Amino acid sequence: MKGSLTLRVSLAFVLIVAASAAGLGLYLYHAFTGEILRRDEIALRGKLRQVQQLLGTQDAQVLLHERPQYFRDTMSGQENALVRILDADGRLLLDINPLDERYPVPSLAERAEQTPVLTWTSRAGAPAQVVSGSARLGGQPVRIVVARVYADRTAMFARYRHQIVLACAAAALLAGLLASLMLVRGLRPLRAIAAHAALVRPGRLDSQLDSVSAPSELQPLITALNAMLARLHDGYTRLSGFSADLAHEFRTPVNNLLGQTQVALAQRRSPGEYEELLASNVEELERLSRMVDSMLFLARAQQEDVVPVRQLLAIEDEFARMAEFFEGMAEERELRLACAGSGVVQADAQLLRRALANLLSNAIRHAEPGSIVRLETGTQPGWTELKVTNTGAPIDPRDLPHLFERFYRADAARGAAGGSTGLGLSIVGAIMALHGGRAEVRSTAATTSFVLLFPAN
Ligand SMILES: Nc1ncnc2c1ncn2[C@@H]1O[C@H](COP(=O)(O)OP(=O)(O)OP(=O)(O)O)[C@@H](O)[C@H]1O
Ligand SMILES: [Mg+2]
Repeated sequence: MKGSLTLRVSLAFVLIVAASAAGLGLYLYHAFTGEILRRDEIALRGKLRQVQQLLGTQDAQVLLHERPQYFRDTMSGQENALVRILDADGRLLLDINPLDERYPVPSLAERAEQTPVLTWTSRAGAPAQVVSGSARLGGQPVRIVVARVYADRTAMFARYRHQIVLACAAAALLAGLLASLMLVRGLRPLRAIAAHAALVRPGRLDSQLDSVSAPSELQPLITALNAMLARLHDGYTRLSGFSADLAHEFRTPVNNLLGQTQVALAQRRSPGEYEELLASNVEELERLSRMVDSMLFLARAQQEDVVPVRQLLAIEDEFARMAEFFEGMAEERELRLACAGSGVVQADAQLLRRALANLLSNAIRHAEPGSIVRLETGTQPGWTELKVTNTGAPIDPRDLPHLFERFYRADAARGAAGGSTGLGLSIVGAIMALHGGRAEVRSTAATTSFVLLFPAN
C-alpha cells in the first residue's frame, strides 16, 4: 500500500475513536432515554393511583360532574395529560382529550401493578404512554385510563443525539490531529537515519548510525544497517587495498619490461641478444600472468564465487600424487620427499591440490639442500591436519603474522628475483577459509611447518 504512513495511521485513529465514541454515545443515549421513560412510567402509575384515590372519596360523584378538570389538574404538566373514566358497560363518564388523540387502552392485569404501560405516538409525533386501572365509584366498578403525551421529549432526545454526534466528531478530529502530531514526532529517528544514509559515501562507510537515542523498535533496523555498513566498509577497504596492491605489484615488472625493451631497441642487436631479451621478457610476463591468475582466484574466493565441491579424499593418495609431481623439482635441489600418515579428508580435490602445491613449492624453495621435505598428518581433536615440513633457517618471528597476507614476502629482494608473486600463501589461506578451516605456520629453530586444518566431518 502506498501513501503517507502518517495519513494512514491518523485516519485509522480517527475511525477507531469515532467508532468507539459513537458506541459509547449510543449506549449513553439508550441508558438516558430508558431512564427517562422508566421515570415517566412511575409518574404515570402514580397519577393512576391518584385518580383511583380521588374516585374513592365521598364527593367523587360531585367532583366528576362539576369539576371534571380537577382529575387532570392534579397531574404535573397537566396540559399533556389525558384522563378517561368508563363505567362497567363501557360508557364514558369522563374523557379529557383536548387534542382528540387516539390511543390504545391496555387490558387490565390481575394485579394492579402488573398492568402494562403502553407506548404510543401522539398525532404531533411525540412519544406518549398510557396505563389503565380499576376503581369504585359510588359502589360501582369503573375503569380509569390515564395517558400522557411527552411533547418535549422528542426535542430533548434530538438535542441529546445532536450533542453526542458533535462530541464524536470532535473526539475523532482531535484523535486524528494528535495521532499525526505523535507520528511526525515518532518518525523523527527514521528521518535521522535517512539523513545519515544520504551522507554515506564510498570513502565514509565506517560512520555508524547512532543507536543509543533511537527507540527500541528501530534498534534491529539500525543494528542491521550498521552491520551492512561494516560489511560494505570491509569489502570496500579490501577492494581498494586489492587494487592498490595490484598497481604496486604490477608497476615493477611492467617498468622492467619497458626498460629492457627500450634499451634493446636503442641500437641494433645481434639475434642472440634479441633472443636473450625475449627469454627474459617471457619470464617476467609469465610471472605477471601467474599474478593475474592468482589475483583473480583470490578475488573470486573472497566474493565467495568459488564453491568447493567437497568429497572424501584418501590423504595417502593425495600425498603420493603431490610427491610424484614435485619429484623433479626436489631432485634439482637435492631434496627428498617423504610422505607419512593416512586417513581421509573432506575437501575439494582441485583446491586441496592447489594449496598443497603452494606449500610444497615454498618448502622446496626454502629447504636446506640435501634435507628431507615431509608431508605428514597431524592430530588435533576436531580437525584433520595436513602438514608440510622442511628444515631450514627459521622465519623471523616478526614476519610470521604476515605470511598469509597477499604480496607479503619475508625476503623481498630474493622473492622478486626468484619470480615469486607473494600470493601463494594468501591463496592457501583463501582455500582454507572456503573449507571452513584455516592455515597455520609453525616455525622452530630448525624446521618450518605449514599446516592445513580442515574441520573433521
Ligand atoms: N617453507 C618456508 N620457509 C621459509 N619461508 C617461507 C616458507 N614458505 C613461505 N615462506 C615465506 O613466506 C613468503 C610468502 O610465501 P608465498 O608462497 O605467499 O609467496 P612466494 O612463495 O614468495 O611467491 P609464490 O608463491 O608466488 O612463488 C615467502 O616469500 C617466504 O619469505
Ligand atoms: Mg609460494
